[in-house]
Amino acid sequence: MGNIFGRLEGSEPSAGVVLTGSHCDAIPLAGMYDGTLGVIGAIEALAALQQAGFKPVRPIEVMMFTSEEPTRFALSCSGSRAMAGALTPAELEAKTDAGGLHFLQASGAGYAGAPPASVANQVGYGAASTGEMLEAVRVAPEAVAYFVELHIEQGPFLEREGTDIGVVTAIAAPAALEVHFTGDGGHAGGQLMPIRNDAGLAGAELALAVERHVLGTGSGDTVGTTGTFEVSPGAINSVPREARLAIDIRDTDGPRRDSVVEGVLASAADIAHRRKVRVASRIINQDPPATCHASIVEAVAASAKQLGLSTKHMVSRAYHDSLFMARVAPTGMIFIPCRNGWSHRPDEFSSPEDIANGVNVLALTLAHLSGGSWPKVEL
Ligand code: GLV
Ligand code: MN
Ligand code: MN
Repeated sequence: MGNIFGRLEGSEPSAGVVLTGSHCDAIPLAGMYDGTLGVIGAIEALAALQQAGFKPVRPIEVMMFTSEEPTRFALSCSGSRAMAGALTPAELEAKTDAGGLHFLQASGAGYAGAPPASVANQVGYGAASTGEMLEAVRVAPEAVAYFVELHIEQGPFLEREGTDIGVVTAIAAPAALEVHFTGDGGHAGGQLMPIRNDAGLAGAELALAVERHVLGTGSGDTVGTTGTFEVSPGAINSVPREARLAIDIRDTDGPRRDSVVEGVLASAADIAHRRKVRVASRIINQDPPATCHASIVEAVAASAKQLGLSTKHMVSRAYHDSLFMARVAPTGMIFIPCRNGWSHRPDEFSSPEDIANGVNVLALTLAHLSGGSWPKVEL
């Protein structure tokens, strides 16, 4: 799958590992901190524990998940979905990028080495089929004792309230849809307005309907985004024959999110009927929300307190690999502030001081969860 692991051995090598990590892939026009903080920060946390002479009981592993962002293969959290057993061979085999390169071809980009202790079966490389590979990647029962992810908040609350650390209690539920309208196109001059079936206008109506359904819930926690909207053939003098929209709908409340998804699909059918275009809609994913485990929530809060840092218990509105890791292991997240709450844009920024706070809290949390001993300090 392209998931990459490193390991700090514990005094009980066969015990379930304490796992930490995030992703390093990025959407177009992204910043530098989303995901990367949780990989490089985790390596730094392990290095700090090692340098301090901490001897863990449970092994501590750091990892980088493959393809967390959905932009290349239209599949979010690919590596963690596979680890959670939430990906079928058929789904993975169908994934290609815009250049037609297959996910499995791209992930064969030269990764090497033995599979980590935390995956089942150890079939490893050279698996005979996609199914066998996915079985090998899947987390074995109890193999991961805890999973912790350090991430920037991607929202405004910590900075606005002057809080150092966000202790994440739950992760919002994302859904992704694709809608494809097809009309008959035609000449921009010769095709008279009453006889057009313009797929572009059907798409425009649907993008506005997404906003209407979301605002209709009356909840500030419901959000919807038409993030891609392509019309073809893409000529100024041609009535759009096709419109393809990718729509992202999220909420902290799964059933309320699902009611918006149903409303958007119903609007797509209604618009297609009125505008005499054909429509094909597909739900790419509709993942349930995750709850963070009390043991990690407590360990993060206690570590921050020990370091004299202020905390806020909060929900993650973005999704993360933690959403899937929560299906197979007790999971929690640590947030740090980011400037103006900006993320998924090039001016995303977190200060070195906030990063240091997050890494220190992660290191102490990993130490708590692993069990182990600090060197005796002569006073
Ligand atoms: C992750 O990048 C997300 O879209 O929440
Ligand atoms: Mn992201
Ligand atoms: Mn991320």
